[in-house]
Amino acid sequence: MHQRLTVNLVVNGETYERDVEPRILLSDFLRHDLGLTGTHVGCEHGVCGACTVLVEGEAVRSCLMFAVQVDGRQVTTVEGLAPNAEELHPLQEAFWESHGLQCGFCTPGILLSMVPFLESNPDPSEKEIREALSGNLCRCTGYQNIVDAVQRAAAGQAAGGATPEAADVADEPSRRDGGDEATAGEVPA
Ligand code: FES
Ligand code: FES
Repeated sequence: MHQRLTVNLVVNGETYERDVEPRILLSDFLRHDLGLTGTHVGCEHGVCGACTVLVEGEAVRSCLMFAVQVDGRQVTTVEGLAPNAEELHPLQEAFWESHGLQCGFCTPGILLSMVPFLESNPDPSEKEIREALSGNLCRCTGYQNIVDAVQRAAAGQAAGGATPEAADVADEPSRRDGGDEATAGEVPA
């Protein structure tokens, strides 16, 4: 019989207690034990960023942590971002407005990477956004609309929470010119 350890944690404001095998990854625990399948699993070795969640407000790759490591801690998954069933989180709203996704596989991880990024840098440049996105792989979009969405969310944050209209974002000249050539550590322009 495998050893099991008890984990107590708060996920999206709800308290859970579960007995788990010490080898269970946080990503698998969230998906299989708690049924929170919004946390996606791509590479399972820390490269793609699809599994990103917040632990105590910091973005972490849940495929690189064991569930037992979050004992006594607070976790936020994409299911916990929206304030209620009727409203989206402003960043989700911005992704919606800017068409910042196609298949959506990368989206939960990108949202959870960008939440603390915008908290720490509320007025980021396009280059800073591209650097911040470099740990999250998207195979569909080419990134431009994701960058636009993050810019839109930042502008909305600066304006007190509302996401600007599409025309306001599209009119800014720096948004569509792609900026400088991507350097190491940035998503391509
Ligand atoms: S599944 Fe965790 S980084 Fe890819
Ligand atoms: S939208 Fe498909 S992987 Fe990003």
